Amino acid sequence: MRHDHIISAKQLSRADIEEVLDRAADIAADPSAYADRHAETLLGLLFFEPSTRTKMSFTAAIKRLGGDVVDMGPVEYSSVKKGESLADTARVVEGYADALVLRHPSEGSAKMASEFVDVPLLNAGDGAGQHPTQTLLDLYTIRENAGLDDLNIGIMGDLKYGRTVHSLAHALTNFDAHQHFISPESLRLPRSVRYDLHEEGATIREHTDLDDVLDSLDVLYVTRIQEERFADQSEYRKVAGEYQIDAETLESAREDLTVMHPLPRVDEIDHDIDDTDHAKYFDQAHNGVPVRMALLDLVLGGDQ
Ligand code: NCD
Repeated sequence: MRHDHIISAKQLSRADIEEVLDRAADIAADPSAYADRHAETLLGLLFFEPSTRTKMSFTAAIKRLGGDVVDMGPVEYSSVKKGESLADTARVVEGYADALVLRHPSEGSAKMASEFVDVPLLNAGDGAGQHPTQTLLDLYTIRENAGLDDLNIGIMGDLKYGRTVHSLAHALTNFDAHQHFISPESLRLPRSVRYDLHEEGATIREHTDLDDVLDSLDVLYVTRIQEERFADQSEYRKVAGEYQIDAETLESAREDLTVMHPLPRVDEIDHDIDDTDHAKYFDQAHNGVPVRMALLDLVLGGDQ
């Protein structure tokens, strides 16, 4: 992975994934061993969309490796407001940093920007496309709680626009996973994603009703309806509020069901689940630091 761009979960083999997860576990066990590993290293942050977890955990990760960030800051105060192209911004900022993290509303933007830079570029979300670094922390959380082999996972909510879903579904094809996709008809997985999953030989089923599969699941991965991606707000209002779960919903679930969510949640998971043993979404968010430390360490060639 040394000096690779990380654009899509499709590029990650099982060996790549296991290398990141094993290193993340090693880091989590003894973070101090990695404290000076990337002293002097600067990570360029280019966030063209809101972010709390991804941006802050990348920042924490590089700082815990001994490095620091150079941050473009809010789009409205950057030269993007003067009409600068993404390609030009990326070319300039690669001169200020050893690697770049990009979040952008356009699908394909990370791939495009990566073609203009020589430093590794990590896709932190490109529109409704991909979010591969989220997937690595999702897989880490699944591995810790349910194991990645012989997994029954339900992925519920906005499967059309949810980039975390698209990345996770692809990555799971490297493992022996049975994937159940639960959504309203209008928010089904895009045809292109379904096609790719079939090409990879994935075992997938689609449902409109969680009750059809809940009692067989090891993991339920809940997602937010991506309001910002709807061209027509009345379409959003038709599906908003569907597919919410609460403690009562989970009465028919397995006792060891792991409930995950990439966060932020709006109303998909009731707060009455937060204090149950099912709830792992805050652990999941916290896992973003060791996992992104591991990824940065590998991409920056820390073991060379
Ligand atoms: C997700 C995203 O930005 O795609 N958030 C995250 O990175 N944890 C999910 C979302 O916004 O719903």
